[in-house]
Parts: sequence; structure tokens; C-alpha cells
Amino acid sequence: MDAPKRDNVVKYLKDYSPPDYLVDTIDLTFELDPKATLVHSRLTLRRNPARPASVPPPLYLDGQALELLHIAMDGVPLPASRYRVDANRLCIPKMPESCTLELRTRIHPTANTALEGLYVSGSLLCTQCEAEGFRKITYYPDRPDVMARFTTTLIADRQRFPVLLSNGNRSNRSIKGLAAGKHAVTWVDPFPKPCYLFALVAGKLTCHSDHFITRSGRPVTLEIHVEPGNSGLSGHAMQALKKAMRWDEERFGREYDLDLYMIVAVNDFNMGAMENKGLNIFNARYVLADQESATDLDFQHIENIVAHEYFHNWTGNRITCRDWFQLSLKEGLTVFRDQQFSAESLSATVQRVRDACLIRNQQFAEDAGPTAHPVQPDSYLEINNFYTITVYDKGAEVVRMLHTLLGEELFRHGMDLYCERHDGQAVTVEEFVQAMEVASGRDLAQFRLWYQQAGTPVVSVAMVHDPQTETLCMEFHQSCPATPGQPHKAPFHIPVRIGLLDRSGHPLPLRLLSEAEPDGCTPSESPPTSRLLELRQAHETFVFSGVAHPPVPSLLRHFSAPVILQAELDADTLTFLWTHDSDPFNRWNAGQQLATRLLLQLADDCRAHRPLKLDDSFIDSFDQALQTRDLDPATTAMILTLPTESALLAHMKEADPRAMHEARLFVRQSLANALHERLLQLYEWHAEQESLLAAEGYHPQVAAHRSLKNLSLDYLVCLRWAEFWHLAMRQFHKAHNMTDRLAALTCLLHSACPEGETVLALFADRWQKNSLVMDKWFAVQARIPEERSLRRVRNLQKHPLFNLKNPNRVRALLGSFCHDNPLAFHQPSGKGYQWMVKQILALDPLNPQGAARLVSAFSHWRNMEPLRRGLMQTALQQIQQTDDLSQDVFEIVLKSLKQ
Ligand code: TRP
Ligand code: ZN
Repeated sequence: MDAPKRDNVVKYLKDYSPPDYLVDTIDLTFELDPKATLVHSRLTLRRNPARPASVPPPLYLDGQALELLHIAMDGVPLPASRYRVDANRLCIPKMPESCTLELRTRIHPTANTALEGLYVSGSLLCTQCEAEGFRKITYYPDRPDVMARFTTTLIADRQRFPVLLSNGNRSNRSIKGLAAGKHAVTWVDPFPKPCYLFALVAGKLTCHSDHFITRSGRPVTLEIHVEPGNSGLSGHAMQALKKAMRWDEERFGREYDLDLYMIVAVNDFNMGAMENKGLNIFNARYVLADQESATDLDFQHIENIVAHEYFHNWTGNRITCRDWFQLSLKEGLTVFRDQQFSAESLSATVQRVRDACLIRNQQFAEDAGPTAHPVQPDSYLEINNFYTITVYDKGAEVVRMLHTLLGEELFRHGMDLYCERHDGQAVTVEEFVQAMEVASGRDLAQFRLWYQQAGTPVVSVAMVHDPQTETLCMEFHQSCPATPGQPHKAPFHIPVRIGLLDRSGHPLPLRLLSEAEPDGCTPSESPPTSRLLELRQAHETFVFSGVAHPPVPSLLRHFSAPVILQAELDADTLTFLWTHDSDPFNRWNAGQQLATRLLLQLADDCRAHRPLKLDDSFIDSFDQALQTRDLDPATTAMILTLPTESALLAHMKEADPRAMHEARLFVRQSLANALHERLLQLYEWHAEQESLLAAEGYHPQVAAHRSLKNLSLDYLVCLRWAEFWHLAMRQFHKAHNMTDRLAALTCLLHSACPEGETVLALFADRWQKNSLVMDKWFAVQARIPEERSLRRVRNLQKHPLFNLKNPNRVRALLGSFCHDNPLAFHQPSGKGYQWMVKQILALDPLNPQGAARLVSAFSHWRNMEPLRRGLMQTALQQIQQTDDLSQDVFEIVLKSLKQ
């Protein structure tokens, strides 16, 4: 069966009106069967007292791809004349003030490949209702501001579906008169919730259970359910869950509320995980892990996502969104919370660099492209297209700026007030900002623009030092480019954290001239060495006093705002900051800027067929950075990593992926050629540190040593020397963990080592039964930086283990190819584009959400050099001209091609 067609109507924030009817309770009974499931629903409805009108308005219930079998009001079957049904809704024109409504519908889980609503994953039945999947289960007001108490009874074959789970607490209610071989379980969720948080899971699962005592002394049972073959792989997720529960109590004063918290791992899932009340459903890749099969990065993602879904219990579930335009209310805030959690658990610098990379490499690109939208969008065609890096991650940056402006204590007051005022409600972003405003006493009127205006602000700064007056004058200028539908922008309220260093790297005291005492004396208290400047106007000037010599500025420390900062620092200054800044984040940042400048120049040289040459001074500073000993190795590894090709291409005027690939490879090879002895020492030293720690299982410190070790290996193998290939081979064969094994395999394959294929085959032999590891096997091949990788992915697409219906596999092969292999995807023949178009059109009828994500690889066609620009435009037009596109793909293509 095809994915059901959506309504093709653009929705606007300004059109919001409260629901005409409220649902107090919903009683659901499922007779589960993969082919045809019967859903009985009993709603108690009443008119919304906030919507007075003389006659009760018609009732509209959302519903898609449902077979309506029965409908009754207050126990009496409704005649066909009393209601209408179309492809998207059921309407009852004449309604009483209140009633109970009974509905019976039939649905077809096996035919549901969109993985939205009730669907089949392997031998399991499971649901995904956010954003609008509940309407594929039964007729209901499918909007988050309708909150009801759910009771759910699941009836199924006892053999095939021994475990039956839903939200809330298990009740001991028993069902009489069940057919032979069937069993039933009833779940009661005492907390009113919107239907997008409804969930059920049925099947053969083994349960890893544990418990947690909340700080007020309530015991909570914790359960992680996995398929029987995966028992023993949920230990890390369980530890992460307990850690997150404690952290939310300590840092935000938030306790868990039910007696039971369940996580279920499923193999087929469109996103990372889902925060359904009391019953989180997870993509298996974010639950299952052991040293043998998961990398250190996998372990880190698991901890972060388990925490994210747990934190939603307050920011999302107890306080939910009024409508989907408010999505960032829960997602931006919850991402901010999971970032804070991971910063404490992992490393503040490593976490911040990761956040900043995501924003600068992907969010800035989204903001600069045809699908740019504000953190709070004002219109959408398909809501699934708005689970974006802007809503999630820029949304988190906006919350972070509030935290920066208010400080930890006032921010916490604001959070407490927000929870106190709105617990149990469906609210707006505005109500969140108001709570922050009231708790802090600060005026956030201008700050609200961060939610409303799309686009990345550009802040430029010019500095003039006056040795006579010993002052430094910093002049800031801000502007923001036009984005679709928003030609003019007002200035933002931007927090800019800065420091000044002297020529030996010591921080200087920062005193503003305006802070001098009227009699000319300066206050006795010694001024801070790091300060937060607040920009509010297009032009703003700050003058610092007591600056005897020209200082080195360290700007936008810790990435204090999601803006592009232009400071025109020369290469010497950047080099100095790269090796001396006392703020480790800015050390990383300076290195990235320096490398970006260099690589852009080299890529231009390459395009113009000029010989490539690398400055000795860059090699020297890289060498200095290599010898860093005062930072943790994970931070050092990031400081030594060049920006990715995709990130660099976004900065290139007429992007040429081949030229950029060659430039970047040239720099890596030149560095490795000059510094291979030191790199080898580094490799060996960190290998030894790692083994000295001899930790069982995942450990952040061990992971840090491994990351620097494997980065060194990556530099060494790019020389394509036999001795370093041997080193990688040895690592592959001797590895006792997936991090080292996969790093070695990647090094070998991506440096075109002749033995790469043998190692790849060994890897497949060993792991063919483990689908999460096989995803890595597909992905590492899809990313091989060679144009002929297209041939390889074509063959892999025909591999017996490739499956268009499994989102992880699609992401591993197709996603990796179009997003992480610019050289092959953008090959000038256009064959990479043509192949992707074919895959997108094959996927769209099965899984529109997945197909739309792949289309986004084309949305930056306007940044490309003319040849590729034309080819990409043609590819998009080809998609656009296809019949029966999903609303998801249609919206992205339409926006991408719009003039
Ligand atoms: N709310 C989920 C989260 O961020 C996101 C999510 C999971 C989702 N599955 C989805 C969003 C399917 C849209 C469609 O935690
Ligand atoms: Zn979320």
C-alpha cells in the first residue's frame, strides 16, 4: 500500500485557534494482528469552555488510511447521515455539549512502510505517533493541545506477542472471554497527554530491569526491552538512564513521576528515539552497545540520546507544545539540557566543539539556503520537514544564550517558574520567554527576534589600539541576510564573550572606559579577564582602558552566540591563538579559521591549475599544536582535525568538490610528510596510555586517547606508505574494540590501500549477522573519497543485506553517499546525482520522511560552480515532475527550486 496522501494545505501559525472540543479520557483496545489490527476507541468529549458559542460547532477528528467499521454516540450507533468521512477527517456536524463517542477502525501494520502510526519492525509491532501518526491509528483530534487520560488494553496472540507494553502503569484488570491463545494487558497512564506521546509495543522481548530511588524516596522500576538476541547489550543505556535521572534532580530539581520507566529498542525507526510517556521507543543503534561492536562515539551518542528522551519527561511531556509551530519549545530546550549533561559527563570543550560544528557546518547552511526558517516557523506544508537542525540545535543555542545572559542562577529560577506555571499545560515559546523574563527581571523583547527571524547574523569587529591613551576601541557591526519571506531583519540581541591576551598569552584585565570613576581613578576591584558584551544595535562601540600594548583578541569565546564573526585577524594572530589562547574552545576555533582560509586558497589554486604549496609557517604551527600537552587528548585531537570537505565547500564561492578534495588531501599529506616521526610517536604514546588505563568497557578517558591515536593514524596512512599501512593492518587485526577496528578499516579503505578489500571482507564475515555493525560496513564504503565509489554503492544497493525499508541502512548507504562523499556524489558527469534521484524516487512511496531527508543533499545547488549547478537543478526538476510525490519531498523540492 502506498503511503497515504496528506492534505496538501499550508498551515500558518497566525491561524491557530483553540480546540472546540476537549477529550477528558480515551479508552483504547487493540486487537493486535500485523495484517489487520482492530482499534476500539471510546472518547469522553466535551465542549471547550474557552470557546463559548451559542450552538455546538461541528466536531472534526483527524484520520488517515483508516477503515471505519463502527461509530456510536452515547451508546447509540450513528446513522450515516450524521457524519461525513474524507481522506483526512471525520466530521460530525451536529453535536451535543458533551458525549461519549465509540469508534472502531481497522488498520494494516504490515503495509505501513512509512513507520508512522502502528507498524511492524521485524517480529515486533510498535508505534511512532509524533508528529501526526496517531491519526493513522484512530480518528482523534490529533493536535498537541488536546490532552487526555489514556487507558490502553492490548489483546494479542500469547505466543507471538508475549510482551505487551503501553504508557503508564500496568493495571491488574483482567479481560474476560478472550479467544484461545490470546492474552491481554491493560495500561493506565494517570497523566493527561497529547496523542503524539501515545505508544504501544508488542512482541518477543527480553527485559533488563533495574531500579532508581528518586530524591524524595520514591522507587521507580527501570526496564530496557530488547529482542532476545540482544540481551546483554543494554548495560550502558541503563547506566546512562540512571545518570540522567540523578542529574535532572540535581541540576534542575526535576524528578520522575511514574512508577515505571521503559525503553524499547527497535530496528526500524525514522529518527533517533521518541519520548513517549513512560515508554520511550529507541532506534536500536542508540541502545545496544558493547566494546566489540560499538565505537566510543556510539557509546557517547547513546548516553546523550537516553538523557535527551528522559529530559523530555518535563520539557515536552508534562509541559508540552500548544501546536507544532512551538516544536522548539520542547526540542531546543531539551537539546540544551542534553548538551549540558554531556558537557559534564564528557568534557565541556569537546561537547561545545561538537555543538559548534553542527551549527556552523549544517545549521548555517540551512539558514543560508532555500529551506531557511526561523526557530519558530510561521508556516509549513509537512510538519515532518521541520524536525530540523534549526528547530533543534539553533533552538538550543537560543536557550543557551538566555542561560549566558541571565547566568546560571537566574536561568534556574526561570526554569523553576516555567515548570511551576505550566505543568500539565500545552504552551508556546512566548510563555517560556515570559517565565525567563519574570524570573530574571530582564527585558527580553529584542531577544525574542531569535525565535522569529531566520538567517545567520554576521557580526564584524574592527579594533583600534591607541598607545597614547592606552585604550582599545572595539567597533561592532551586525547584519543579517534576507531569507525566504523575510527581506529585512532588525538587529539581534547578541551576547559576545571576549578576552584579550598579551603577546605571551596572559589574559589582560578588561575594564571599560565607561566604568572608570568620575574623578578619573579606577575602581579598586580587579576587573575580569573575560567579559560578556551585549550587542543590541547595528553599530556598537566598546572602549577598554588600561591597554598599554596592542593585545590579541579572543572573540566569541565558547561560541557565545550562533553568529558568523568576522574579525580579519591575520595569520600570525590566528596561529598565536591556536597555540596560546587560554580558552580551549577558541584555540580550536583559531585553528579552524586558519585552515579554512588556507584550504580555500589552495582549492582556488587547484581550480586554476596553479601548483599547490603549503606554507612552512602552517606546518610549524601544526607541529606546535601537535606538541600540546596541557589539554585532554580528545580536545587536542579536535584542534588537529582539518574542517571537513562539506564544511569547506559551504565557504567556497563557486563550490568545486574535486578541487577542495585535492586541496585538503594535499594539506594532510604535506603535514604528514613533514611530521610523520612526531605523528608516529604520538600514535604510540596514546596507544600506550590507553593500554595503561586498561579499562573494561567504555571509558571517556580511554576514548580520548584513542581519538588522538586514531587521528595520528589517519594522517600517517594518507602518505600511502607501506609501513603505515602495516601499522593500520596490525591495529585492525589486534583490536579488541570496534573503535580501533573501524578506525583502521576506514584508514585502509580511504587511503586506497591494496589490502583494503581483504580487510573489508574479513570484517563482513565476522559481523554479517549484526545489522548495526553492517551499517558501519555500508557507510565506510559509501564514504570512500573516490569518484568510482559510485560503482561501489550501485553494487551495494543490490547487496542482499541492503533494504530500502530500513532507515538505518538507507542512511548508511544513501545518506553517507550524498551527504558525506562530496567527491563521488558531485562528480562532474552528473551520474552521482542521477543515481540519487532514482533512489529518492524509489524510497518516496515507501518512506516519505526518509526520502525528503535525502533530497536536502540537492538544496544547495545554487552554491555550486556552473556545471554542477545546472546538473543539480535538472535533477531537482526531474523529481518535481514526477507524479504522486509525497508532501514531504514536494515541499523540499518546491522550496529548493523557487526563484
Ligand atoms: N521527539 C523525538 C525527539 O527528538 C523526535 C522524533 C522521533 C520524531 N521520531 C520521530 C520526529 C518521527 C518526527 C517523526 O526526541
Ligand atoms: Zn527531542
